[in-house]
Amino acid sequence: MALPLPASASGMLRIVGGNSTDTGQEPWMVALASRSVYGNSRSGQFCGGTLVSPTKVVTAAHCLYDESTERPADRPDLRVIVGRTDLSTSDGAEVPVSRVWIDPDYSMSSNMWDIAVLTLAVPQTGRPVLPLVPQGATAPYLAGTTATVYGWGDTSGRGQYPYVLHQVQVPVVGDAVCQRDYPGGPDGTFRARAMVCAGEQSRGGKDACQGDSGGPLVVGGQLVGLVSWGTGCAEAGHPGVYSRVAAMANAVRGQL
Ligand code: ARG
Repeated sequence: MALPLPASASGMLRIVGGNSTDTGQEPWMVALASRSVYGNSRSGQFCGGTLVSPTKVVTAAHCLYDESTERPADRPDLRVIVGRTDLSTSDGAEVPVSRVWIDPDYSMSSNMWDIAVLTLAVPQTGRPVLPLVPQGATAPYLAGTTATVYGWGDTSGRGQYPYVLHQVQVPVVGDAVCQRDYPGGPDGTFRARAMVCAGEQSRGGKDACQGDSGGPLVVGGQLVGLVSWGTGCAEAGHPGVYSRVAAMANAVRGQL
């Protein structure tokens, strides 16, 4: 979902600063797609998601919102694409969604509780899933922990959308530091209750970006974060902000 946030011009490679990977290695990585809204060239991809059970996908609530109406978007052709590394192909499957649950506390204005669960109309039996971090876990969120984020989003911060899945390793940024990075105002407010930051705090260069939203931040083989928001992409002093899954895991488990 392309929030039109400007990216700084400096120091960006490619996600941003990472490298390509594939859904054979990350079989739980899925794309959210709507061909009627986003076109066919990249299979209609607009967000990422994570398969957490044969029928359930965790993503960001804001992926399912209409930015103009600030209401849940009506996308009759919403699909979850599984097993497709390269969005220009027809590999894997495009699975219809039978139910959408958006965290009732989600707020588009504050970006709080940015999490949703999709129910697949066709169970993905046998496809490996990624477990959720336990409710209340703290260890994966310690500053400096290495996390990996995955997605098909902008690789440069200048609107370059790849066909193939990318990944990048980003250190978790401590809550006190992120509070200083995003104290409020136009850049948004970081709130550790429901968010966690990751990125190269002092150098920048590595980050998620537009189109990666809803995708997983992974530590130790568990889903610990969801790409949510940030100022620009890969800027020093503006790390990526993620939904803090350990603060929402019980609510999500109620939906599984
Ligand atoms: N809101 C964006 C999206 O919808 C994700 C932005 C993430 N930005 C970042 N710098 N990590 O795709």
